[in-house]
Amino acid sequence: MKLIIDTDPGVDDALAIALAAALPDVELLGLTTIFGNTFVHQSSRNARYLLDFLGTKCPVAEGAALPFGATDYQPSANVHGDEGFGAIADIPEIGQNEDENAATFLVRMAQENAGELVVCAIGPLTNIADAIKLDPDFAKNIKSLVIMGGAFECAGNISPYAEANIYHDPAAADVVFSTDMHTVMVGLNATMLTLLAPEHFVVMGETSPKVGGFIRDISDFYLGFYRSVGVFDGCPMHDSTALLACIAPERFEMKQSGLRVVLSGDQMGQTVADDTRPLVDVAMSVDAKWAVDLVMERIASLP
Ligand code: BDR
Ligand code: CA
Repeated sequence: MKLIIDTDPGVDDALAIALAAALPDVELLGLTTIFGNTFVHQSSRNARYLLDFLGTKCPVAEGAALPFGATDYQPSANVHGDEGFGAIADIPEIGQNEDENAATFLVRMAQENAGELVVCAIGPLTNIADAIKLDPDFAKNIKSLVIMGGAFECAGNISPYAEANIYHDPAAADVVFSTDMHTVMVGLNATMLTLLAPEHFVVMGETSPKVGGFIRDISDFYLGFYRSVGVFDGCPMHDSTALLACIAPERFEMKQSGLRVVLSGDQMGQTVADDTRPLVDVAMSVDAKWAVDLVMERIASLP
């Protein structure tokens, strides 16, 4: 499968990128970066660092620094740390971003791999909306867009109504959901089921001392956030769950619905059913044991 991950690494993004590197049938054509868990220049630096660390060669194209229409943005440093990798402070700048920006890169790769490219978007959807606006054929050229984002008729995580990726650019998400293409929304309905306990990270460090050990170290801070909000002692693997929907959608229970995003007010960022919109495959649940076992097994295959 030809894949581009649009990402804001980010602790759980890092796990998803490591997982992509460990999935045998995935050909990673590039990473496109976005503001979100960090400022976009930090997302790009972290993406390049991870690829080098994993020994994976592919381009990094930097995308949007701000949500549509915004003049300022503050990242979620309380969840992912000041630099995006938990408590780790010194992340070296390795390599360079592509000259092309993320939207231009996405459009070109979709043209060059028409009908084959899967885009897995695990941050705010600004780059994807930019690509749709840049090329009317983008939606037709990609095979599918798989999103980590949204909450369908269930509670949000950044507000009672909204999931963080959608909340951070609701207008961009609404452009995406109004576009006719094969879209899969893997939101909190599914990702809150795929939980990793602290012991899972200990095991990752034992079975994969280099990569798993790094994931364990950066996840400590992330686990601390989830502990502080008192939900459970562990964390959901949001972004990896979306990646797994790219390779094994049959492990998910899907419901088809048109979607629109609430653009302002208390419910800003909420994803609600709208029968005037193109149908989206909404993941309502997932075989969580399969998902966790596969992630553990694939990380264990890394050095
Ligand atoms: C999403 O928001 C970010 O914190 C995570 O990386 C994930 O993509 C979960 O709501
Ligand atoms: Ca993310």
